[in-house]
Amino acid sequence: MTPSELLARLRSASRVVVFTGAGVSAESGIPTFRDALTGLWSKFDPMQLATAEAFRRDPALVWGWYEWRRAKVAGAKPNAGHFAIAKMASLVPLLTLITQNVDDLHERAGSDPIRLHGSLFAPRCFDCGEGHGVLPASPIVADEPLEPPACARCAGKIRPGVVWFGEALPGEALDAAFDAARSCDVLFSVGTSSVVYPAAEIPVIAARSGAAVVQVNPDRTPLDEMARFNLRGSAASVLPQLLRETWSEENR
Ligand code: OAD
Repeated sequence: MTPSELLARLRSASRVVVFTGAGVSAESGIPTFRDALTGLWSKFDPMQLATAEAFRRDPALVWGWYEWRRAKVAGAKPNAGHFAIAKMASLVPLLTLITQNVDDLHERAGSDPIRLHGSLFAPRCFDCGEGHGVLPASPIVADEPLEPPACARCAGKIRPGVVWFGEALPGEALDAAFDAARSCDVLFSVGTSSVVYPAAEIPVIAARSGAAVVQVNPDRTPLDEMARFNLRGSAASVLPQLLRETWSEENR
């Protein structure tokens, strides 16, 4: 049951922020970064594949890993958590969705998120930065290393259009996210381990600015102490229930 204080805060909120991580896509079958992986990838730590150094050292390994993730996403569907977030945007005066995810499941559920970590669907040249165009939706994959394609302009290697560890986040997106966090009444942190900065600052900024921070996660995270409400459960079960309880007429 959703706490009555949260129901009241949500019903009277003017600005809501939803901040998501890999957990919101877990019930669509996309493994999170902390899940045990299967097959070839079980031998590697995702944190060590998501760097420019790793790409320089072994481009086929890194490109193969991202193509494997992209194939998973291409074959997946948004789940009830993604749809609940899109629905919530029609129930509050202003909702800003900020995601760390590089899949396109929020878009396919009808949302238009601020993307902090780029996209699996925007590859570009590692050397000259030239965009490679959107690759076909169903890549042939690739539970194995795969040579990246060559850039049409400079023949460099094409890399995934995601933000790797050690790289700067897109400035405009980060500014917009921080602004939204500073001015919201309620912030939901959904399916993120809250350990990767600067993204993990977003709920902290909201809490310090007086917003009620609501965490949706089956597990504990470092945000637990700061969150006003910790809703322990999966995004696809907690969020639809929260919507029903907050906005169905018989509950008002
Ligand atoms: P993580 O893989 O670090 O954390 C996923 C979180 O989702 C964990 O706290 C899980 O407990 C939670 N979770 C799992 N299943 C869930 C479910 N069904 N519903 C709700 N929560 C669930 O993913 P992120 O926090 O997104 O960065 O990781 C942050 C960043 O680290 C990623 O964007 C990526 C990664 O390395 C880059 O690629 C730069």
